[in-house]
Amino acid sequence: MVARIIWRFVAVFAISVAGAALADGSGDPTAVKSENGKYFDKAGDPTYKVAADGTVDWYTYSGYRRYHSECHVCHGPDGMGSTYAPALKDSLETMSYPDFLGVVAAGRKNVSTSQENVMPSFGSNPNVVCYLDDIYVYLRARANDAVGRTRPAKHDEKPEAYAKAENACMH
Ligand code: HEC
Repeated sequence: MVARIIWRFVAVFAISVAGAALADGSGDPTAVKSENGKYFDKAGDPTYKVAADGTVDWYTYSGYRRYHSECHVCHGPDGMGSTYAPALKDSLETMSYPDFLGVVAAGRKNVSTSQENVMPSFGSNPNVVCYLDDIYVYLRARANDAVGRTRPAKHDEKPEAYAKAENACMH
């Protein structure tokens, strides 16, 4: 009797742990280290960090803003997709970081459908190229439901090293 209760507890526990394990096209998004306010997962890919009180890291916040100035016209607000372009919130559930960078830099043309949908190449647009990781981190957070459909209310300050790199990239 006691053993049965314990086994039931173990089973429920195992299920809840499995349910909490996160993964997307780049693997486990859990941040394991940070450098100048930028977070990385165990594979070394950029990722998001959301504090218990909802404060998001600078990249997630910046990515929210860049996404909504450069991408949302086609991909819909909050990465939700449109009739013209796919929901990037869903794309990143299976798409890896290098694949994401590749499509954004080179663009893509889908000619297999009756409608010709074009993903423009952003490889020479500084407003995108200088913020690729920001946009990626924001969409990664969306893919894992770590941030909701609204502008993140609280965010970390812009890191000093980030501001320097941003100036160098934009000029
Ligand atoms: C002019 C409209 C337009 C804009 C602006 C645009 N995209 Fe796209 N994007 C598309 C279309 C259309 C596709 C699908 C192309 C295809 O089917 O091959 C696409 C595909 C993608 C994909 C591949 C998704 C998948 O599931 O395979 C990624 C990643 C992507 N876009 C990222 C971005 C990012 C990031 C931005 C902003 C910097 C952006 N796009 C801006 C139209 C656009």
